[in-house]
Amino acid sequence: MLTTSKIEEIRARIKTWKNKGESVAFVPTMGNLHAGHICLITEGTRRADHVVASIFVNPLQFGPQEDLDGYPRTLEADQQKLVEAGCELLFLPTPEIIYPHGLATQTYVEVPGLSDQLCGASRPGHFRGAATVVCKLFNIVQPDIALFGRKDYQQLQIIRTMVEDLSMPVEVMGVDTVREPSGLALSSRNGYLTAEERAKAPALKRTLDDLAERIQHGNTIADALAHANTALQQAGLRPDYVEIRHAHTLAPVTDTDKELVILAAAYLGKARLIDNLVFNR
Ligand code: PAF
Repeated sequence: MLTTSKIEEIRARIKTWKNKGESVAFVPTMGNLHAGHICLITEGTRRADHVVASIFVNPLQFGPQEDLDGYPRTLEADQQKLVEAGCELLFLPTPEIIYPHGLATQTYVEVPGLSDQLCGASRPGHFRGAATVVCKLFNIVQPDIALFGRKDYQQLQIIRTMVEDLSMPVEVMGVDTVREPSGLALSSRNGYLTAEERAKAPALKRTLDDLAERIQHGNTIADALAHANTALQQAGLRPDYVEIRHAHTLAPVTDTDKELVILAAAYLGKARLIDNLVFNR
């Protein structure tokens, strides 16, 4: 696997593939790779002739009080996992390469509406930062297909909208969340949990399952949500939000909507956990 921080090197390697008519799958990451990321790479190997990954802890998507400096960086282990999974090219840029003129004057991409709610309400500027770096990475790699985890459901919808709104020639594919046997969704931020918190964390997924079941059994959304918030608190988590939205648009649910998604975020010690559940009523 070629690892490079140089945009020209990435472009040159990809050009040789494209000149032969070969396709490219792309998996952007912030590193600290776990089995969820590896599933994205594996799916990429099935969907395209070559898989390219990036590791870049993107400062533009972290708020001033967030964990940019402490974000786990595990490059050697990441490289080994990428090689084993079949990734052929790793883009490993520095912030100076991605943002040569600094962050303050960086041109940005914003998907309005979708970016300001749910996680965007608690993390102002986060989705603008994520959309901007993904747009830049797409311009550098020019993949045929890009793969993202469904765990970051709102991010996935935002990237899909960006690609559609800006007519980007990339197919965006969502890949199912990988979970621990306890149900806890894999996340780089799970590493912040103490052993005691780890034992509490699966309550998030359990609460989402229970919430979906209550709605399918005819409970009102308001009652089911109130119950879910209480359940999370009783389990020792501090809910940031629990919401039910239209599964595709993330718009507030109307009486006729059948395809729904529950989205939730909750604090547990140093970690902010997110999860979601798509279901039909
Ligand atoms: O999901 C992530 O890890 C990041 O938001 C992404 C898509 C790599 C952009 O920095």
